[in-house]
Amino acid sequence: MNNSTEGYKFPADFLWGAATASYQIEGAAKSDGRGESVWDRFSHTPGKVMNGDTGDVACDHYHRFREDIAIMKELGLQAYRFSIAWPRIIPDGSGEVNQAGLDYYRLLVRELRAAGIVPVATLFHWDLPQALQDQGGWQNRETCSHFARYARIVFEALGDQVGMWITHNEPWVVAFLGHASGHHAPGIVDPSNKIALQVSHHLLLSHGMAVREYRNLKLAAPIGITLNMAPIQPATDSPADQAAAERAHQGGNDWFARPVLKGEYPAEIAKQLQAAALFPATEAGDMDLIALKTDFLGINIYFRQLARHDENGGPGQVAVFSGPGPRTRMDWEVYPPAMHNILKRISSDYPDIDLYITENGAAFEDSVVTDSEGKRRVHDDRRLSYIQEHLKEAHALFTAGVRFKGYFAWSLLDNFEWAFGFDRRFGIVHVDFDTQQRTLKDSALWYAQVIKNKGM
Ligand code: FCB
Repeated sequence: MNNSTEGYKFPADFLWGAATASYQIEGAAKSDGRGESVWDRFSHTPGKVMNGDTGDVACDHYHRFREDIAIMKELGLQAYRFSIAWPRIIPDGSGEVNQAGLDYYRLLVRELRAAGIVPVATLFHWDLPQALQDQGGWQNRETCSHFARYARIVFEALGDQVGMWITHNEPWVVAFLGHASGHHAPGIVDPSNKIALQVSHHLLLSHGMAVREYRNLKLAAPIGITLNMAPIQPATDSPADQAAAERAHQGGNDWFARPVLKGEYPAEIAKQLQAAALFPATEAGDMDLIALKTDFLGINIYFRQLARHDENGGPGQVAVFSGPGPRTRMDWEVYPPAMHNILKRISSDYPDIDLYITENGAAFEDSVVTDSEGKRRVHDDRRLSYIQEHLKEAHALFTAGVRFKGYFAWSLLDNFEWAFGFDRRFGIVHVDFDTQQRTLKDSALWYAQVIKNKGM
């Protein structure tokens, strides 16, 4: 912590941004030739999403992007992280290219640049074309080649404007919530994790294949992948729990990081999975592709986790659970050192890569009030303080020499929060989903000051 009167100054070149994802904000699900995605299919299946919500309209950002860019400009955002909907570019995932989809994102990135905002594009934030799912989706190795082709088409179309590229967002979530618990699209339930582990390998492989396409095009902007991570603490000081926490770190955080950054799966976990006949099928050359050099690692961080040794805890013999602190509306624990701790750990394991927080934020219930001047306000003190406390804790990383290069608040807008629909608000900007009216929350007004002052 920094107690000096100078406060918490961040480096002059630190990148301040906010993030969204296509299916969560765009709406316009059938416009201009967009194909069906697995999230359209899933959200339209009764019982899958809270209150039957879908992304059909969401924040209608597809039509309102100019208004939303004006908000970003008002906030002084330096960078905007968004994702590209694969089914807008190639409606069936593998066939003809839909020029209208490319034109849309071309316009978006051009308008961002005109507003002085760096476009940070994620290629895959979960909206797989349904036609590919019908052929096995990420269980099918062929999907990796389709992804690489899609990536190349997007690189060629937007490569002169995009300032940072992210191949995948949170492959862990796609693999395990999509193909083990079934809480996310495509909703496959397989508690053995066998399918999820195979999917995770294919997601990593497709990342490597996209990086290969990118390098062949000799584009200059940095490219990386975004992983969801949580620092894992032992539940007690016992050696058994400490070892369990380390295994949980390797099985969760490092399962995706180590292949990308070192070209290998974490050894102990790999051995346990092999013994349990759960290790994914791989082919010669896969690990080299997955480890093609990237320029940064994106980390999404929301909470920490605790771990204890558990004989019945699967091949890793570990039970992982949430801490006892205050909760957000997601029932996630608020633990401000989490961001500092994970950045510290990852930078000590992988000192040679730049690190960005590509998502961090909190869902709380908000209400819009009218102040004495008749202005709409949202006093979201808990969200503001969540972000503030995480940033304060992380400040110590600079003196420790951690290559912490930027921060993206999740999210710019309240949006479609996957299986929770519109019931969980993460935005620093409030969205009235009936009228589409946007209202800057106190957290947004505060964040604008942080960006302006380069710290707190
Ligand atoms: C992350 C997702 C993002 C959002 C936040 C709350 O797992 O990447 O789309 O849903 O959680």
